[in-house]
Amino acid sequence: MAGRIPKEFIDHLLAKVDIVDVINNRVPLKKHGREFMACCPFHSEKTPSFTVSPNKQFYHCFGCGVHGSAISFLMEYENLEYVEAIELLARSQGLDVPYEQSEGTKTTPSQPKAQLDTYTLMEQVAQFYQHQLPQASKAQDYLALRGLSTEITTRFQLGYAPEGWDILSKAFPNQTARLLEGGLQIKNDKGRYYDRFRERLMFPIRDRRGRVIGFGGRVLGEGTPKYLNSPETPLFHKGRELYGFFEARQHTRQLERLIVVEGYMDVIALAQFGINYAVATLGTATTPEHIQRLFKTVPEIIFCFDGDRAGKQAAWRALETCLPELRDDREVRFLFLPQGDDPDSLVRKIGTTAFEELYAKALGLSEYLLSHLKAQFNVATMEGRAHLEHAALNLLEKVPESAFKGQVLAEVGKLTQKHALLLRSNASATDNGKQTQALRPAHSVKNTEQSIKRTPLRLVIAGLLYEPSLIRYMDNPEQLVRFPIPGMDLLLTLVEIIEEQPHIVTAGLAERLRNTEHESLIAKALTWLNPPIELAVLEREFIDSLHQVRRQGMERQLEQLVHRAQTSELSAQEQHDLSSLLAEIHRVK
Ligand code: UTP
Ligand code: MN
Repeated sequence: MAGRIPKEFIDHLLAKVDIVDVINNRVPLKKHGREFMACCPFHSEKTPSFTVSPNKQFYHCFGCGVHGSAISFLMEYENLEYVEAIELLARSQGLDVPYEQSEGTKTTPSQPKAQLDTYTLMEQVAQFYQHQLPQASKAQDYLALRGLSTEITTRFQLGYAPEGWDILSKAFPNQTARLLEGGLQIKNDKGRYYDRFRERLMFPIRDRRGRVIGFGGRVLGEGTPKYLNSPETPLFHKGRELYGFFEARQHTRQLERLIVVEGYMDVIALAQFGINYAVATLGTATTPEHIQRLFKTVPEIIFCFDGDRAGKQAAWRALETCLPELRDDREVRFLFLPQGDDPDSLVRKIGTTAFEELYAKALGLSEYLLSHLKAQFNVATMEGRAHLEHAALNLLEKVPESAFKGQVLAEVGKLTQKHALLLRSNASATDNGKQTQALRPAHSVKNTEQSIKRTPLRLVIAGLLYEPSLIRYMDNPEQLVRFPIPGMDLLLTLVEIIEEQPHIVTAGLAERLRNTEHESLIAKALTWLNPPIELAVLEREFIDSLHQVRRQGMERQLEQLVHRAQTSELSAQEQHDLSSLLAEIHRVK
């Protein structure tokens, strides 16, 4: 296991990075007073409620409640793991992420480091294959046969894996472990290593950040397997990656739609014809991660499938996968191609304009869903209607509450001759398991917020989180230790961090408390202070809440002492505490 990343490094990183740049590179922000705003990338809205504060290095959406540091943003927006997000930020600052050596891992290098090296090797191998392409006449003939231009093969960095079992070992000596990790070599029964790809046209597969993580290799002409793909490796997970995604985003900054096709050649042929927004799943069914990734980038997805049976089956599975991701501002359509054609052959036949005109004929998701149900069940019989209702509700249960869902329910109601409202109560998404807070509608966030009471102590905590410099109003914070108020340990933890690091900002504090029991309280406390309030008002409220905490603390302590005095003799120290408490309480009252 990789060691931990030292918290000092994370503090340092967050101080160096500007969250405004990080977000603005992905979601264009507009300046608004001291903050920046945009329409929230995590829920659909028409008026901006997503704010980014340069002072706090924190973002917060007061529509849906998402918030966090630059690290959280990258995790959410780019679908990254915690460590991946830190690695990405660090790289943008030219920093290397240090990993603490934990017990027992002293001799093994940390995992992410090893992977980084493999990324570099993968890129070098892609370049190596690319350099082989012009010299390989068989491959050149094949490209000509497929009608691929040099411009397009260069853009997608197509290459050629030459004949031979140990080409890569020769080209990259002493890299066996990484060649193996990247899935480029295979170990045979005798323990010898040989190249996976031989005599194949090579398609490098890039992740969303442009790193080569795998390859697809096509035989030149006939042969099996037609395509050989990299296996799943630590770098390459087919269920997460989409071929052509990086290239599409590189080509068009603000993509409006993405079309999902089945093959490498389809992506490339479409791009050659100016349709620069096609991606392909890598020989797998569409996964929820694919859909989430797509919808983070564009509001409209067009699935393009063969018109045959297999294509229809794949389309229906894609529909089911989309259901939990549906929102009113998202659109999913299904384009079934004429029998015998794929996007590659079709676009060459009919041209760009005619191809793009087909989208108008594509089935909307609801249309497709309803027509599929109607074809499956006979609504002329009661049984058929009951079965249809059952099937429809099962599907719609996965759809978050939306106008879309209401519309489909109304249609189902017409088919089953049942009132839509009756259906609705059965179709409400009960528990959409993996739905994140970010995606939940705003009202449900507010509900949970209400259930956490705004006690004076929590307001002090919120104030400090929001404006750590307020600590200057806390003389003698150590004194707080003696107050028996639940939640005091969080306040003391905050005080300790801020004292140690007087310049820490909201983002830094939130990161320090990530994955602790305090995380959810922090999330809620921060929403109390949104929309942002004036510093002067915040100061007043903070001082006032702090005052109340002290008084509450003293009262509790007094109660405890008085109670003890009734049952036993107080120690000298306790007697002293008691009299000073009594004096103090009189002063503060
Ligand atoms: P197709 O068989 O439809 O091939 O496979 P294609 O994309 O039209 O390729 P060309 O035009 O014959 O060159 C669609 C996708 O399924 C995966 C590949 O990702 C391919 O692009 N596939 C197919 C494999 O992984 N292995 C295979 O042997 C075949
Ligand atoms: Mn094809």
